[in-house]
Amino acid sequence: MNNELSQKEINKLNITGFAGNEILFFEESSSTFDLMHSLDLHTGLTVVCAKQNSGSGRLGRNWESRKGGVYLTFALMPPFEKFEIPFITLVCAVGVCKVLNNYVPSMIKWPNDIVSGNKKICGILTRNMSQKGEIQAVLVGIGINVNNSGFGDDLPHASSISDILKEEINENKVLESVLNEISHAFDMSEEEILTEYKKLCLNLGKEVKLHFLKNGEEMKAICTDILPDGTMAAQNDTETFYVNSGEVSLKGIY
Ligand code: BTN
Repeated sequence: MNNELSQKEINKLNITGFAGNEILFFEESSSTFDLMHSLDLHTGLTVVCAKQNSGSGRLGRNWESRKGGVYLTFALMPPFEKFEIPFITLVCAVGVCKVLNNYVPSMIKWPNDIVSGNKKICGILTRNMSQKGEIQAVLVGIGINVNNSGFGDDLPHASSISDILKEEINENKVLESVLNEISHAFDMSEEEILTEYKKLCLNLGKEVKLHFLKNGEEMKAICTDILPDGTMAAQNDTETFYVNSGEVSLKGIY
């Protein structure tokens, strides 16, 4: 069996839900997000790349995207009736984390990193496509480190499933399971997702170091809850903080 992503292997996948109802595969691109902009979007349309030359990560960072990883973006079109847009990332994190747990022990580091041990093996980034202030589509980008390795000194906390397991994984199968599990997660209720998310969340009940991006201040607190809009509640001796992912980064886990 060929472990590498290819259109031929992707055509054979058993896709059971809306995510991946149409899959377009590219050997290489700048980013799966960029490709989406030239396509006629519909809910479930998924673009997959074997390699990205300019992958984007959260907080304006780059996403290392050499061959061996699974890089995908899928589209969601309005109306967004079931889940609020910020909640969509949590839904996807639950779906992806469940799949990765079938390979290596995996947890969610708030808001949406998937980590195994103290290494990040997957990142999720959701972007809104808007026109005249109106949201035209939500694009969910997911980068999974499957068979890629050789992360540079600048990424000491990154690893891949194959680096951890010391064996090669079928990238097409990972893609299939991730898309199916995400569709399944979208069938769950908000309450069920939140319960699952909290079970998988590494931070809950632990000390977190909040790094406020606005002023560079740092603060230690205990993560006490994850709210339905994805906000994290954290408490120290005197205060409770409600933080969203754009405002803080967490230190101390990697
Ligand atoms: C993060 O920083 O944790 C989020 C990383 C998201 C990477 C994925 S790979 C597929 C999609 N295309 C991109 O350019 N980025 C996302």
